[in-house]
Amino acid sequence: MSKAVKSILFSPITIRGVTLRNRICVSPMCQYSADEGLVNDWHLVNAGSFATGGAGMVMIEATGVEARGRISPGCPGLWTDTQIEPMARISRFLKSQGAVPGIQLAHGGRKASTLPPFVGHDSIGDDKGGWPTIGPSAIAFGGPIGKVPKEATIDDIEEIKEAWVRAAQRAVTAGFEVGHILVIELHFAHGYLVSTFLSPATNKRTDKYGGSLENRMRFGLEIARNIRHTLPDNIALGVRVSVTDYADQGWDVPQTIEFARELKALGIDFLDCSSGGVVGGVDYNPLNTNKIQIEIAGTIQREVGLATAAVGKIVDPHVAEAILQGNGATLIFMGRAFLNNPHWPYIAADQLTDEQAFKYPPQYDWCIGWKGMAKWRKAVLLAEK
Ligand SMILES: Cc1cc2nc3c(=O)[nH]c(=O)nc-3n(C[C@H](O)[C@H](O)[C@H](O)COP(=O)(O)O)c2cc1C
Repeated sequence: MSKAVKSILFSPITIRGVTLRNRICVSPMCQYSADEGLVNDWHLVNAGSFATGGAGMVMIEATGVEARGRISPGCPGLWTDTQIEPMARISRFLKSQGAVPGIQLAHGGRKASTLPPFVGHDSIGDDKGGWPTIGPSAIAFGGPIGKVPKEATIDDIEEIKEAWVRAAQRAVTAGFEVGHILVIELHFAHGYLVSTFLSPATNKRTDKYGGSLENRMRFGLEIARNIRHTLPDNIALGVRVSVTDYADQGWDVPQTIEFARELKALGIDFLDCSSGGVVGGVDYNPLNTNKIQIEIAGTIQREVGLATAAVGKIVDPHVAEAILQGNGATLIFMGRAFLNNPHWPYIAADQLTDEQAFKYPPQYDWCIGWKGMAKWRKAVLLAEK
């Protein structure tokens, strides 16, 4: 795309009361670096660099709504009030750099109590610093994640629903300190608790939370509805789903579309379209998961009329722009491209837009910004000759 066409990627967007300066969002990425669920300097510098890099929204990683719901012992949480202030410190900094702070709330379900991936992939035994897990049915994920979860009772379900709402309230408190601007995303994907209720491959219940699609969606919809009702109206609320399990008799795109319609009806503002992670034994190698995710984001946005986030190996600014130009999504979520270059938007802005639509932080602008960049590039080119 030439700069003559107005870039959508670099156009602001308002979702409920929340205005993002551009459509570039940092996808939630676990850092496995918290202690007792408390975020620290690592999280501040990590997320902070994406904000100084120009992202419109920076979403903090999967954050446990209860201690049992942490994926690993190093995952952050919002299950107790002492976890609010360290999180607020991050959201304050993100906001000070013009980025909207987002947070992903999560419950690991049967994939909780596992090692951080830079240590291993196994379940951690209860006698080795792990903890008992919970799921819709007492079936382990399998392979190295061999821990068998407790089948949730109705009382457990009620307790976990409450935990989601309380964590969302704490997230709001953490965000309120920076002026009522926050995006909350509910992690209903990747084989964590809610996605295992959604999928018939993992939910074998015979009560009102299992069996029919309506029953399997119940838990997730109740969580989303309760949070929507409790939150101030100006908070943007999104949901991440796995659009397919890639499993026979599992969760698939038609069910995702039904779920999206229900979520839209209860006031969810966007659907973040990821995939997989729900059952073991899937050979992801021959699957083009990124392509599938991005395609479905477009289908849902057009068919359901719900804003979507496209995610999956988006690294080229022109590809991101083309998705938006084609009404294929409302937001672009990017993960690894930001790990590789936290200032990815600088490169993208240079290719797609101008100084009206993208501002560098003043600390950098004078030397590598619109004016400085030209001088700097010229100097580099001369040096290379
Ligand atoms: C280090 C790392 C941690 C991740 N942690 C999370 C997470 O906390 N929650 C989540 O929904 N997805 C998580 N993901 C998936 C990313 O959000 C994203 O969907 C995925 O990496 C695909 O996008 P990409 O190709 O732009 O990286 C993680 C990915 C990476 C690389």
